[in-house]
Amino acid sequence: MDNKKFSFLKEEIDKLKQEGLYSTIRTLDGPQGTWVKINGREMLNLVANNYLGFCTNEEVKLKAKEAIDRFGVGAGAVRPIAGNLSIHEELEKKLAEFKDAEAVILLQSGILANIAVIPLVVGEQDIVLSDELNHASIIDGCKLSRAQIVRFKHLDMGDLKNKLEDYKSFPGRKLIATDGVFSMDGDIAPLPDIVELADKYNAMTMVDDAHGEGVLGENGRGILNYYHLEGRVDIDVGTLSKAFGVIGGYVAGSSVLIEYMKQRARPFLFSTPLSPADTRALIAVVDILSRNDALVKKLWYNANYIKDRFNKLGFNIGHSKTPITPVIIGDEKVTKEFSSRLAGESVFVQGIVFPMVTKGTARIRVMVSAVHSEKDLDFGIGKFGKIGKELRVIK
Ligand SMILES: Cc1ncc(COP(=O)(O)O)c(C=O)c1O
Repeated sequence: MDNKKFSFLKEEIDKLKQEGLYSTIRTLDGPQGTWVKINGREMLNLVANNYLGFCTNEEVKLKAKEAIDRFGVGAGAVRPIAGNLSIHEELEKKLAEFKDAEAVILLQSGILANIAVIPLVVGEQDIVLSDELNHASIIDGCKLSRAQIVRFKHLDMGDLKNKLEDYKSFPGRKLIATDGVFSMDGDIAPLPDIVELADKYNAMTMVDDAHGEGVLGENGRGILNYYHLEGRVDIDVGTLSKAFGVIGGYVAGSSVLIEYMKQRARPFLFSTPLSPADTRALIAVVDILSRNDALVKKLWYNANYIKDRFNKLGFNIGHSKTPITPVIIGDEKVTKEFSSRLAGESVFVQGIVFPMVTKGTARIRVMVSAVHSEKDLDFGIGKFGKIGKELRVIK
C-alpha cells in the first residue's frame, strides 16, 4: 500500500497525539452491562448512555431473536425499493402514539435523523438559529442545508430574542434548533420560551431529544411531554440508541412533514433501514415503557443517589438537571490522570476534555443506569472519593 499519499493524515494523527487529543478506544469482551469485561478485567461501567439497561434486557433480547426467525437478519434494500417490513410500520406507529405525535419516520441513527430533516425544511435562502452548544449532528444537518447558521448563546433567551429581532424582516424561512438535554452538562433547553419566541417571530422549531428520550416526562416520553408541549414543536428528533438501548433514530411531527420525508429525505431514500432484530427489539422497548415507569423511576433514584454522595464528598458536579452527572475537575491533565487511576481501580469512565468541552472545564461524565445496584454505585463513589483525595480534587 502506498502510504505516502496519506502522509498528511499521518501528520494529523501525530498532531492529535502531541496535543493529547488522540483517543484510544477500549475493547469490551461481552455486553454493555453494568459491569463490563475489558482486557480480561471486570470493570464498573459508568460511561454508557444505556440509561434504562435495555442493551441487555431479557424481554427485548427475546423479541429480537424471534424477529430473526420470522424476518431474517436484514431488510434487503431501501424501503422505497424493497418495501417496508410490517415491523418498521408497527414501530413508527407505536413511537407516534408514545410521543403523542401525528406521525413518525424511522431512520438508521440519531445523527442521520438530524441530517435527514434539516435540509428538507431550510435551504440557501433561509436561516437556522442554533444554540451554540448544539450537537455536531445538528450542525452537520445545517451545513448540508446551506442555510445561514446564526448561533445564540447557550440557553440564553435574551440573545435568541435579539437575534430574531435582527432578522425580523428577513424574507427566508427561520428554524430554531436546539438539543433538548445537553449531553456534557445535563442542562435542559427552555423549550416553552423557545416556542413562545418562535410563535412571535414566525419561526419553525426543532428539538433533538437524544438524552431526554426514556429519561424525561411521564414513562420517559421525552422533553415534549416533560414540558406539556406535544404538538407545539414542529420537529422532534430522537435517537433509539441511548435510553432505548438499540440503534436508530426518528423524526416525529406533522403528517405532512413525515410524508414529505418519506419522499425526499436522503438517508431514507438511499440507505437500508434498521434490521428486523433491531426493529422488533425497539417495539419491545416502547411496549415496556408504555406499560411501566419503574425503570425510569429507578434511573432518577440512582442519579439522585450518586449526585448526593458526590456533593457530600465535595466534588463540583455542575448544574445538571438530568441523570447526566459531570464531575468537573477543570485541569485537562488531572482529569486524564483521574480517569486512568479509576480504570486502575476497575471503574470504567471517560475523561472529557477540550474540544468536547471548553478549556479549563475538563470533567469525567458519570452515566448511571436504572440497572446499577446501590452496591455498584457505592463501589464507584468509594473509588471517586479515594482518588479525588489523592489528586487533591477534594479535601
Ligand atoms: C444530542 C445528540 N443528538 C444525536 C446523537 C446521535 O445519536 P446516534 O448515536 O443515534 O446517531 C447524539 C449522540 O451522541 C446526541 O448526543
